[in-house]
Amino acid sequence: MDNRPIGVFDSGLGGLTVLKEIMEIMPGESIVYFGDSGRAPYGVKSKETVIKYTLQDIRFLLSHDIKMIVIACNTASACSLDTVRDRFNNMPVIEVIQPGATMGVKQTKNKKIGVIGTIATINSGVYERAINEIDKKMQVFSKACPLFVPLVEEGPEWWENDITYRIALQYLGPLKNTGVDTLILGCTHYPLLQKTISRVMGDDVEIVSSALEVARVVKNVISKNNMAAGENTGTVYKFYTSDVVEKFEPMCNAILKRRINSIVRVDIEKY
Ligand code: DGL
Repeated sequence: MDNRPIGVFDSGLGGLTVLKEIMEIMPGESIVYFGDSGRAPYGVKSKETVIKYTLQDIRFLLSHDIKMIVIACNTASACSLDTVRDRFNNMPVIEVIQPGATMGVKQTKNKKIGVIGTIATINSGVYERAINEIDKKMQVFSKACPLFVPLVEEGPEWWENDITYRIALQYLGPLKNTGVDTLILGCTHYPLLQKTISRVMGDDVEIVSSALEVARVVKNVISKNNMAAGENTGTVYKFYTSDVVEKFEPMCNAILKRRINSIVRVDIEKY
């Protein structure tokens, strides 16, 4: 039994899509969430900068006595997983790429998989490697969509409007023409644009979001390591952001579909 919270972080709001699934399938687990909205997007920054930010985010979470780290960000996973597993080898570290790649391979029928993500994630080639390690015959078509994260961070009124649709059409049109039957959302912000992305890709393309699969991995690791929180110990959720709380709070409520009113601003550069 382990009543300490799970630590989850992302460059901003995207990790909340993972957090929502963790809350749903593990209602007894306490969680500390950090969204680095003040420094988002990560995906247009250098690998060195993403590693530096990731380590600061984790040091902040560790100050809350967490029992495991969930990197709810593809960009941070792609750039810094090895460094993180090396430095913090005394606790489980969960990332988001392997679960997404596994789901994509399970889902496709024609072995043509599309992957969209940030520039850093796509340029790292991490999805191609993960997919082809599972099945060498898979064809992977990747596309970076750098405007998607800022559009999500702008708030719900941008997620399904016509401007976002036209941007999605420009990014995804060529990908649709490759004949992929499955599209992996290789960024935890993108499930919030899923309706717009589906509108462009059409009903015959299966959209894969790894959020639920990541939550299942978290649950498995917790149970394998006997780390579940005790029953009726009281679930506590704590939310932190490096930017304006008044902006983060309504978006948190919109994504999690519940009222969160204890969001605290953090000076992340201190960590
Ligand atoms: N949610 C992050 C991801 O999964 C977005 C990265 C960014 O801030 O650009 O990659």
